Amino acid sequence: MGVQRASLHHALLLLVVCVLCWALSSRCAEGQSQTGQLSVDATPQNARKIPDKMFGIFFEEINHAGAGGLWAELVSNRGFEAGGPNTPSNIDPWLIIGDESSIIVGTDRTSCFERNPVALRMQVLCNSKRTNACPSGGVGVYNPGYWGMNIEKGKVYKVSLHIKSSDTLSLTVSLTSSDGLQKLAAHTITGSKKTFAKWTKIEFHLKSSQNNTNSRLQLTTSKSGVVWLDQVSVMPLETYMGHGFRKDLASMLANLKPQFLKFPGGNYAMGNYLRNAFRWSETVGPWEERPGHFNDAWGYWTDDGLGFFEFLQLAEDLGASPVWVVNDGASQNEEVSTATIASLVKDVVNGIEFARGEPNTTWGSIRAAMGHPKPFKLDYVSIGNQECWMLYYRGNYQKFYSAIKAANPDINIISSCDRSTISPSNPADLYDVHVYTPSSSNMFSRTSMFDNTPRGTPKAIVSEYAVTGNDAGKGTLVAALAEAAFLIGLERNSDAVEMASCAPLFVNDNDRRWNPDAIVFNSWQHYGCPNYWMLHFFKESSGATLHPTTIQISNYDQLAASAITWQNAKDKSAYLRIKVVNFGNKGVNLSISVAGLATGVKKSGSKQTVLTSSSPLDENSFEQPEKVAPVGSPLSNTGQQMGVWVNPYSLSSFDLQLLESSKQHDSI
Ligand SMILES: *[C@@H]1O[C@H](CO)[C@@H](O)[C@H](O)[C@H]1NC(C)=O
Ligand SMILES: *[C@@H]1O[C@H](CO)[C@@H](O)[C@H](O)[C@H]1NC(C)=O
Ligand SMILES: *[C@@H]1O[C@H](CO)[C@@H](O)[C@H](O)[C@H]1NC(C)=O
Repeated sequence: MGVQRASLHHALLLLVVCVLCWALSSRCAEGQSQTGQLSVDATPQNARKIPDKMFGIFFEEINHAGAGGLWAELVSNRGFEAGGPNTPSNIDPWLIIGDESSIIVGTDRTSCFERNPVALRMQVLCNSKRTNACPSGGVGVYNPGYWGMNIEKGKVYKVSLHIKSSDTLSLTVSLTSSDGLQKLAAHTITGSKKTFAKWTKIEFHLKSSQNNTNSRLQLTTSKSGVVWLDQVSVMPLETYMGHGFRKDLASMLANLKPQFLKFPGGNYAMGNYLRNAFRWSETVGPWEERPGHFNDAWGYWTDDGLGFFEFLQLAEDLGASPVWVVNDGASQNEEVSTATIASLVKDVVNGIEFARGEPNTTWGSIRAAMGHPKPFKLDYVSIGNQECWMLYYRGNYQKFYSAIKAANPDINIISSCDRSTISPSNPADLYDVHVYTPSSSNMFSRTSMFDNTPRGTPKAIVSEYAVTGNDAGKGTLVAALAEAAFLIGLERNSDAVEMASCAPLFVNDNDRRWNPDAIVFNSWQHYGCPNYWMLHFFKESSGATLHPTTIQISNYDQLAASAITWQNAKDKSAYLRIKVVNFGNKGVNLSISVAGLATGVKKSGSKQTVLTSSSPLDENSFEQPEKVAPVGSPLSNTGQQMGVWVNPYSLSSFDLQLLESSKQHDSI
């Protein structure tokens, strides 16, 4: 992400005006419809293949997308580092069970981990003796997770923590309701003074007896003495492919069939200041040893459980090609000069070796030790996040480019600069384009954005696009329709555009730093916004065959359409998919005519899918997660000449099942 938000007041005013416009215009248009003609030229000579990696996703650590989101870790600030390196420090969101007469809690720098030295120190003053008895249930600390932990009945949670103790130990680890009164699962760790004189790692499983979407983790004792704690983790045992991703959220991504995964930002990759940037090498190796960092771009701490390795693993699990946005020495407020950039260049080359070096290389061996000896298939590296305008960008870019290409000639390098600046002396395989528009109609007008772009290399990666202004709300239908039209424009211009992804992908509803987002969640619920569902209409496009289309309609310029043929792996049939966006308030009676198909269209087996709603400003919510979602229905009387109805404010796809070539005589 990298643009400023429009002022709220301005946006609200525009929103009101627009609602009025719609109300008036739809009243005027009541009962009206349009007739139009859509011609598809399906001749092989005019067909063109859409790039294999056309549609992907862009993950940025924003809105607690990863920490407290896709990354399934339930404990927030598990290493007590979030308060900074100077102790005693803020232990937020940890809180104390007991009062100052029974327990003193603080931090000190006695951790066994060199890179994250802060540990929690609990001095327990009470005990089991009657004269100085601890309150029933003991004293200690609790962690509420990220706005409550979702604990499910019968599910198993893996607990891991490091403990040191001044005395014999009896520490109860439990999952409880948010007030601590209801116990869901508990385990007591006991040991002699000798056992816990040194830092000791303890791991065990907890199985919950109940459901609670707002649980907390408690660590309590009734024994006096000093107990130190560090790297306290609770993970559900069941995660997506066993790799630590929240199952429901990762499945939402998998259902989009993304062809690439761009990560980790955005401004997150840069930081407001370089000391807070995402530094890949600080996020790999055993999770306990990762220092974590403050995501100053979006205002929260991350323990970096979701690190460079995990991003690569996620891409692999999704069948997506990783696109790594490297920190190129620029933050929002600073820049490393070209004279001193060499060590950062080396760091990025090392990162590529970490991702795809053989296990016998220096960095490849670290990846192998993390359980992935096989190199990851990293083919795309983006140099920075749209900071072409900065003083040293181009000078630094060239150093990154030549060093990366020298070590990895096959890697595609993405420039943050405009196409016009790319030349043999400033080469690039792709150039990055971000498209944020202040209104849906502005995005709709960008359908033709690449129509006049010169063909040939380098092609564009439109790695961030979204309607962000007035009528986008928290994810409206109309914004999704405008984005659909924009993507149709990208399909049609896929000889100038290689890849595209929307932004942002995720928002934890408890920390909305940016609106709108494609997927909304909290500790236990999730839903897709209309633009999430819109993307489903494009998931067969990557690698498909594009056919030219023309629309003829008088006095109505609110349609956008494209046609592809694609192979359905499930039923092994070929389909002609015609997508139509109707961005206006009139229904359209559309005659479709397809010419030049090598085979015919089957009379049955075709399907239409429509994304629409009663109002263009409709949104989904936890209460109505699929208020605006695609609805499929069989399509009868299909043929190369056919009539279809296109709803006002809708995205429709018509999937015409094609005859196998040998049955051509059956064609209509
Ligand atoms: C517990 O939660 C799960 C998942 O949300 C649900 O399927 C199940 O029915 C719930 N069980 C009880 C006893 O409420
Ligand atoms: C590393 O292993 C590869 C095969 O996996 C081999 O070709 C290469 O020579 C090895 N390199 C070193 C430095 O041992
Ligand atoms: C659409 O057009 C067809 C053919 O011109 C006509 O028969 C049909 O009544 C029209 N439908 C609507 C809803 O206007």
